[in-house]
Amino acid sequence: MGLVPLLRILPLGRTLRSKVVGHAGISLCGGEYSAILTAGEDFLAQVSLHNLYKRFGAVNAVNNLNLEIKDREFMVLVGPSGCGKTTALRMIAGLEEISDGDIKIGDRIVNRVSPKDRDIAMVFQNYALYPHMSVFDNMAFGLKLRRVPKDEIKKRVDDAAALLGIEALLARKPGQLSGGQRQRVALGRAIVREPQVFLMDEPLSNLDAKLRVQTRSELIKLHRRLGITTVYVTHDQVEAMTMGDRIAVMKDGVLQQCAPPMEIYARPANVFVAGFIGTPSMNFLPATLRKDGDGYRVDCGAFQVAAPTAQDGKLDSYAGKRVLFGVRPADIFDKNLTNPVASVSGNTVRTVVDVSEPMGDIITLYLTAGTHSLVATIDAETSAKDGQTLDIVLDLAKTHLFDAETEQAIY
Ligand SMILES: Nc1ncnc2c1ncn2[C@@H]1O[C@H](COP(=O)(O)OP(=O)(O)O)[C@@H](O)[C@H]1O
Ligand SMILES: [Mg+2]
Repeated sequence: MGLVPLLRILPLGRTLRSKVVGHAGISLCGGEYSAILTAGEDFLAQVSLHNLYKRFGAVNAVNNLNLEIKDREFMVLVGPSGCGKTTALRMIAGLEEISDGDIKIGDRIVNRVSPKDRDIAMVFQNYALYPHMSVFDNMAFGLKLRRVPKDEIKKRVDDAAALLGIEALLARKPGQLSGGQRQRVALGRAIVREPQVFLMDEPLSNLDAKLRVQTRSELIKLHRRLGITTVYVTHDQVEAMTMGDRIAVMKDGVLQQCAPPMEIYARPANVFVAGFIGTPSMNFLPATLRKDGDGYRVDCGAFQVAAPTAQDGKLDSYAGKRVLFGVRPADIFDKNLTNPVASVSGNTVRTVVDVSEPMGDIITLYLTAGTHSLVATIDAETSAKDGQTLDIVLDLAKTHLFDAETEQAIY
């Protein structure tokens, strides 16, 4: 701590163009450093995608994408393989020509700006370090190409290495590093560029599960520290949930929903988002909505559940119509245990336990209710046994209803 590390970190990232208002100790990648606290500033590195298209022949890889990534935001693009994430990111980087639409970085439309003049740095899944170069030279390479003075290069590489905890590795060749260390070098190579925007395409997918989780949290800390606008691509919904300030969910080139993680989880816009985010996946049951006195009930055939009265206003036009009922495994409880929701008529369902999978703190139950299958994650104190009857309680306030035709959320 103290003056030396404080000065060493000062030039990194946004601190250069920000006003220093104080400093604080932070821990990153196992090291303790002084961080400069900075206040608001001149340049706003927001990224705007406006009616963006990419066509490969008949394939609409990105289909009318509109997205406003705010200055300093960590935006995660998530979706299944082939949904257009990499293509969108490569268009922002300038590595892929735009079929239609505009991309703005800051206040500047960059459609025709070459990649090297966009002030972005990209980290790929295959971070492809030069095997014959030392870690130092790998990190310095891009700066040398840009004819940054030697002293400045050394300073920036040393700063980034300190930030990432890889100072001791600077003389090694990539072949002498572990996967996690190589990943840090790739990150370091992006950091030394001091870009306005980081673009990351599945940067953790080559790491083993444990290292992935660890590096995930280090990346978040790094982002908080540097405050550089980041667009992060992953197919992994857990990564999306844990890392994003906001998540943009894509399918078949089309943006499905963009919102903070908990909002995506609690209020998915459609069946796809509801099923994609959250593990185990949400249960979906075909049903018919029926008027019931003053309110509504969801008729799933084998059983019926009440629609939350708070949602009544949205339901008038759906009475008698086919709908899709949704409930997450975590919002189902064993009636015999003490639960956050009491068992009342309209939220309790009789089921049979097909299979139970103990996970430690919870047990995953595969249940049958009439013709329907349900997955529930239940407190491990349950005495539910395979083949036995189990009454379950649903947290109705957290249930979902979707239009069966459009698959859009009703609530
Ligand atoms: N160079 C290309 N030529 C033709 N089709 C491509 C090319 N790159 C990507 N695609 C297609 O565009 C779609 C989106 O691909 P991609 O952006 O790589 O998806 P993701 O990164 O989400 O897995 C896919 O259908 C893919 O096959
Ligand atoms: Mg990809």
